[in-house]
Amino acid sequence: MTANGMKKSVLVTGATGGTGFAIARRFAREGYDVFIGSRRGADATAAAQKITDHYGVFAKGYETKIGDEENVKAIFADIRAMGYLLDTLVLNAANLGIGQVSLDVDIKDFMEVYHTNIGWNFMMSREAARQMKEKGKGAIVFITSNSALRVTENRCAYCSSKSAILAMSKSFAVDWGKYGIRSNCVLPGMIKTERWQSNVNNTKYCLPNYTPIHDIAEFEDIANAAWYLGSDQSRNTTGAELAVDGGMLAQLTPNINRTLWED
Ligand SMILES: NC(=O)c1ccc[n+]([C@@H]2O[C@H](COP(=O)([O-])OP(=O)(O)OC[C@H]3O[C@@H](n4cnc5c(N)ncnc54)[C@H](OP(=O)(O)O)[C@@H]3O)[C@@H](O)[C@H]2O)c1
Repeated sequence: MTANGMKKSVLVTGATGGTGFAIARRFAREGYDVFIGSRRGADATAAAQKITDHYGVFAKGYETKIGDEENVKAIFADIRAMGYLLDTLVLNAANLGIGQVSLDVDIKDFMEVYHTNIGWNFMMSREAARQMKEKGKGAIVFITSNSALRVTENRCAYCSSKSAILAMSKSFAVDWGKYGIRSNCVLPGMIKTERWQSNVNNTKYCLPNYTPIHDIAEFEDIANAAWYLGSDQSRNTTGAELAVDGGMLAQLTPNINRTLWED
């Protein structure tokens, strides 16, 4: 509960499962009321129900229509109508832009990544910031990627958009700091998604080789970082970046030989 009696609240995008749901659960565990965003409205409602059942906080799901500013305004109007001014926005959803070969990619597909990761994230942030300004404080957290700093093949739109997010977050920190609004980025490396776990080469070879600490992130590792940056725990931190990548960014190349020697 805040000083003015308003319940603390967080909105997490792309939060029906995986990383986003873990972030939503992390805030619920701390007593926040939770708003879940998803392109699939029914799944958002179901995820919100799970949060309420498990943590006893209020939770509600919203269907997010990517790039539709009226939809963005309607979501925030509804949050306001229920008596909240949002405390924390976590922008987790992303267009992953996988397999976009730079010489061949359709420019529409390329731009779609930017419309989601930059345009829509900007709309969501600005609408949240309008409530946070009124409240006199707030926190925006972007889940970007360590590929904002070191890129992977055939993902020009994704990596460059994740990189642009770093500057967008700094812009918000500078533009809105005077209103008590902070903006920060989490930079995951690899996360143990089902997609990742189902590939035996990943678990056998990538785990020991790709990170100095021989492990990659659990969903909860990203959620803990989002909680830190999205709460008063980090009240003096803004315009900053926190890598949660097992040290991938620190090493020049993966240590390919390690597993070969051990086999
Ligand atoms: N997985 C990794 O190894 C890794 C590494 C570095 C950074 N990250 C970042 O961490 C965050 C979570 O990663 P994740 O692997 O858990 O992601 P994910 O499950 O693949 O995607 C997160 C959510 O984004 C939404 N989404 C997916 N494709 C979209 C599209 N084309 N347009 C709009 N929304 C879309 C989906 O939400 P709805 O379907 O519910 O709308 C999805 O649940 C992302 O921002 C990702 O870029 C992940």
